Amino acid sequence: MRIGVVGGAGKIGKLRVETIQECPDTTLAAVLDLSEDAARQVAGGAPVFTDLERFLDVEMDAVVISTPPHTHEDPCISALERGMHVLVEKPMASNAETCHRMLEVAKSANRVIATGFNMRYYPSFAYVKDVISAGKIGKITHVRAFCGHDGLAHFTHDWEYRVPESGGGAMWDIGIHMTDMVRYMLGEVTSVYGVASESVWNLPGSEDTALAVLKNPEGIPAVYHATWGEWRGYDFAIEVHGTHGVVQGAYAPMKNVLITLPEPGGKGTTTKRQYFDIAVREKLFSWKTTAKISFAEELRDFLKLCKGDLSGRIADGNAGLRSIEIANAVVESSRTNNAIDLPVLEPVRL
Ligand SMILES: NC(=O)c1ccc[n+]([C@@H]2O[C@H](COP(=O)([O-])OP(=O)(O)OC[C@H]3O[C@@H](n4cnc5c(N)ncnc54)[C@H](O)[C@@H]3O)[C@@H](O)[C@H]2O)c1
Repeated sequence: MRIGVVGGAGKIGKLRVETIQECPDTTLAAVLDLSEDAARQVAGGAPVFTDLERFLDVEMDAVVISTPPHTHEDPCISALERGMHVLVEKPMASNAETCHRMLEVAKSANRVIATGFNMRYYPSFAYVKDVISAGKIGKITHVRAFCGHDGLAHFTHDWEYRVPESGGGAMWDIGIHMTDMVRYMLGEVTSVYGVASESVWNLPGSEDTALAVLKNPEGIPAVYHATWGEWRGYDFAIEVHGTHGVVQGAYAPMKNVLITLPEPGGKGTTTKRQYFDIAVREKLFSWKTTAKISFAEELRDFLKLCKGDLSGRIADGNAGLRSIEIANAVVESSRTNNAIDLPVLEPVRL
């Protein structure tokens, strides 16, 4: 598959370029970036462009979009209209209306739009999903999800925290991975009650803390917390409780705890998983090595998805849209002090 990368000279775009170059089933067709020189340094001889239309004139089957969220729409819609499949970074866009437009064009062009929720591929979170799917903890009763970092101390670019470019605050940056993770575990989120605040960094429209109760159509709840006030640093965790056990997944460090019970309240069996190889690799090199492995796995599922195979972990366009709708609903709920209902989304068909 011939794949072009939009924003290929960026922090994440470079990793996307490398995974395409290293995958035996893909060829890097072209790179588009505002910085031609920086793009040339990563492109490995593939053509480099600063103009979208000229980039899309290259014969390609798919495009990966790895630019800031407010710039996703144009390359996404133009690529879909030219018959290419699209994998777009999270957040899918900087507002829900844009996501709807992107999904509509994908539908009428009969092309794939996938969202870069690569944390689904992190071994500790993939393990949680597999434990649930195997029925090891019985029927899910409730979920706890957390993610945070130390906010503005962490960012390298203004667009990462400024509305309208970013779309919003903690729920759009780090939080969106866990919003998706809740939905990935619960099936869908159709009710949102929450509180969002801007009391630490005081950036209008960029919540630095969001606490919410999210529910799936059966009323099974998740407690969700995203923050830019996590002074211990970068942290993700999810705990899924069932009638016959509980499974926890966390990063960083990557780890799992699984407790299974023969019956509710029975004697539990505990299994712990620690990923020392990952911790050592990240210490020696970088967190980027873990992200890159997840991008490679995601790319393989993207190729499958483009052939109509929905069996992978990859997040579809609905996942991108709903994660943004949930962030908006938390803010709306916080303003009105009401729970917000969201419709069940029409399944993505290929
Ligand atoms: N999945 C993850 O783990 C993860 C982590 C961080 C960021 N992201 C997402 O990846 C995307 C990129 O983030 P980043 O940190 O790499 O950003 P970055 O600022 O480091 O890189 C963005 C690149 O896009 C280029 N660019 C900007 N506007 C452009 C345009 N209109 N046309 C062409 N090129 C353009 C820039 O020159 C730059 O090279 C964002 O959507 C971000 O939210 C994902």
